[in-house]
Amino acid sequence: MKFERLPDHVAIVMDGNGRWAKMRNLPRLAGHNAGMKALKEIVKRSSTLGIRHLTVYAFSTENWRRPSEEVGGIFKILVQYVDKELGELHENNVKVSVLGNYKKLPEDAVKKLEEALRKTKDNSGLQFHIALNYGSRDEILQAVKGVARDVAAGNLAESELTEAVFSQYLFTKDIPDPDLVIRTSGEVRLSNFLLWQSAYSEFVFSEVYWPDFTPERYEEAIAEYAKRARRFGGVK
Ligand code: FPP
Repeated sequence: MKFERLPDHVAIVMDGNGRWAKMRNLPRLAGHNAGMKALKEIVKRSSTLGIRHLTVYAFSTENWRRPSEEVGGIFKILVQYVDKELGELHENNVKVSVLGNYKKLPEDAVKKLEEALRKTKDNSGLQFHIALNYGSRDEILQAVKGVARDVAAGNLAESELTEAVFSQYLFTKDIPDPDLVIRTSGEVRLSNFLLWQSAYSEFVFSEVYWPDFTPERYEEAIAEYAKRARRFGGVK
C-alpha cells in the first residue's frame, strides 16, 4: 500500500495472546508464541515501509502478577526471539533498544538483550524499542526523582525545566513521541503505556487478537492514521 502520510513512530499494545490461545484450547504460552511470530512480521513490515521508530509493549510492570510459569515462559520466548532474529534484524539495519527497567528480568534474558543492543547499536534503519518491565507511572516517577536530584545538586534550575527538558529524564529520551498508537484485541485503554508521550497521538483499536494482527491489518491501521487530520490543539 502507498500512504499519503507515514507515521514516524508507531507504538503497539500487543494484546489478546491469552484469548487467542483460549479460543483454540491451547495453553496461554502458545498464544505468546504465536504473538512472537506476529511481531516478527510487523517488525519486517515496519522496516520495508520505512517507519523510523516502532515501540512494542512486551511486558509491563503489572505483568509480574501473572502466574510464574507464564512470566518465565514469556521471557523464554523473548530469548528465543532474539536468538532466532538478531542476525536478520542486524542485516536489515534495525537498531534494537529497550524501554524499562530490564535489568530486573531473568539473567539469560538480560544477557540476550544486551547482546542485541550491542550488536545493533550503530544501525541506522528502523529503531525497534521493546518495552520490558515498563510502566508509564513508574517511568514518570523515576523522571521526577531525577529532576529533584538535579535541582538539589544545583545542576538544574526550576526555571530551566521545560517539557523538552523533562522528556530527557524518561526512558524515551531522544525518541520522538508516537504518532500512532495501536492496540489489538478490542480493548480500548492505554494500560500504563507511554502516558506522557501519547498526549497527541492518534489511536487505532483493532478487534483482532495480537497473533492475528497481520502486516495487512497493520497497513490498514496506518491508512486510517493517514486519513486523520492532526491539529495539535490548534485549528486547521
Ligand atoms: C498481552 O496478551 C501480551 C503480553 C502481556 C505479552 C506480549 C508478548 C509477546 C508478543 C511475546 C513475545 C515478546 C517479545 C518481545 C519477543 P495477554 O496475555 O494479556 O492476552 P489476554 O488479554 O487475551 O489474556
